[in-house]
Amino acid sequence: MARARATALDLPFALEAEPGGLTLRLDEDGWALFDPAPGAPGAVRADLLGGGMAERLRQGGRGEARLASALGLKRHPASRVLDATAGLGRESAIAAALGCGVIACERSPIVGTLLADAFARAAHEPGLAEVIARIDLRIADARDVLRSLDDASRPDAILVDPMFPERTKAARAKKEMQLLQRLLGPDDPADTVELIELALATARRRVILKRPVHAPHVPGVRAPDLEVPGRAARYDVYLIAPPRL
Ligand SMILES: C[S@@+](CC[C@H](N)C(=O)[O-])C[C@H]1O[C@@H](n2cnc3c(N)ncnc32)[C@H](O)[C@@H]1O
Repeated sequence: MARARATALDLPFALEAEPGGLTLRLDEDGWALFDPAPGAPGAVRADLLGGGMAERLRQGGRGEARLASALGLKRHPASRVLDATAGLGRESAIAAALGCGVIACERSPIVGTLLADAFARAAHEPGLAEVIARIDLRIADARDVLRSLDDASRPDAILVDPMFPERTKAARAKKEMQLLQRLLGPDDPADTVELIELALATARRRVILKRPVHAPHVPGVRAPDLEVPGRAARYDVYLIAPPRL
């Protein structure tokens, strides 16, 4: 399996990791990304089960009121959501647990490997198969996915959580974000603005942009209509006006 994945990702394959760069490893717990250098922090997985997450997902996204509120689920439960920047899958999984159908887009095939593995493992957990079945994972650039949608499949809400350059500092404490940052680097601000504009042109009801809590609004994008603050991050919500008849 690991050899086939290495071929698919066009990466060298080895039975033993060698120091010198980030490495994807397949072990009995699934896929992990790590740095084999001595003293480097431990491996990162897309883990949707540890730290009480499995229980929260099983209980319909209990304790995730901020995302529910940013998605506007009180008025529109079971919305169709497109997570344009799925990353390690937390927000996609929570949105699915809250009852939404989710298209999860991740453009990095390496992060996509971790993510597909996390969804597959979660689907085998008691009580989670139904939640995971609501997620449609696309290893693709969300801009291409958004452009390919016909009018009937436009999502109600689009979630955008890019790797902003200013995130580097805030993410220092979190080893998974540190490794992702090393793997991917910050997103190009012009790409991010294009993604947000495309999301604003495609969503039926709202676009939700996740920002570090004290970060300014994104330059080049209009000010949000609502903000849902949190401890480390906030959701900036852009409402889409219904078309005039
Ligand atoms: C900050 S992380 C997202 C974290 C995620 N919200 C979570 O809960 O784990 C950003 C991710 O979005 C991906 N990404 C950035 N721009 C993208 C795009 N245009 N299409 C698809 N994925 C994108 C990056 O590869 C990265 O994995």
